Amino acid sequence: RKKAPNAEDIRARKGGEPLVSLTAYTTPMARLMDAHCDFVLVGDSVGMVLHGLESTLGVTMEMMILHGQAVSRGLKSAMMVIDMPFGSYEESPAQAFRNAARLMAYTNAGAVKLEGGVEMAETIRFLVKRGIPVMAHIGLTPQSINTLGGYKVQGRDEQAEAVMADARAVTEAGAFSVVLEKVPQGLANQITEEIAIPTIGIGASAGCDGQILVVDDMVGFFTAFKPKFVKRYAELGPLAEAAIAEYAAEVRARTFPADEHVFADQAPAKGQKT
Ligand code: KIV
Ligand code: NA
Repeated sequence: RKKAPNAEDIRARKGGEPLVSLTAYTTPMARLMDAHCDFVLVGDSVGMVLHGLESTLGVTMEMMILHGQAVSRGLKSAMMVIDMPFGSYEESPAQAFRNAARLMAYTNAGAVKLEGGVEMAETIRFLVKRGIPVMAHIGLTPQSINTLGGYKVQGRDEQAEAVMADARAVTEAGAFSVVLEKVPQGLANQITEEIAIPTIGIGASAGCDGQILVVDDMVGFFTAFKPKFVKRYAELGPLAEAAIAEYAAEVRARTFPADEHVFADQAPAKGQKT
């Protein structure tokens, strides 16, 4: 089994073989992806994907810690990165450090991720200087949905320079990599060429230094909506529903449980099963 990479190992992958990553929120899902991913993100998307929230704004530190602990138990060879939830870091660098340290200490994560570019550069620098590796997240930042006015592409036309400035700012501040979400392809390629840290695309470009997707999206468990950038590699949601429907029909018909699922009244003879 290979040793899990750390933040500096991920940084060193700039320009090399693409970094593979997915989100995870539970131990069994983390186990399934451990051997295939370079890093696994405990995303605050957990609020929408597993808790039925309308956005990521209602996700708490307690939720992140609980899911981070679960994911950590399922990983051996992939690095774990954990999202800082809305409200846990924006106020000040000191607030960010306090909460990032809590996330790292309780979940065994190797790094935190936070949303924001130029405006978060001071905070990123503060954390990195004090021992906390930071993955940045720019372009579409879902925690700012109320000021962005929707889940729109970020960085088209005259907006491009602002996203480029964000990429430069988080790099200068010491982030070891940066997620580019819903950034147009050409701009994503330009950022990837210009900055010295790996870019992780989601709805960005195959030219990025790595890719990430929400696992429940790509296996078809989360079907409430499907962003254009999601590729469904499987349709597990409909498969699970078909199994549930079959179970329900068999219970109603008293064909489940069958003989092989029930227990005899007499103890079996020595050496015999059941
Ligand atoms: O919360 C999340 O799942 C994320 C990724 C999509 C980048 O932030
Ligand atoms: Na997130």
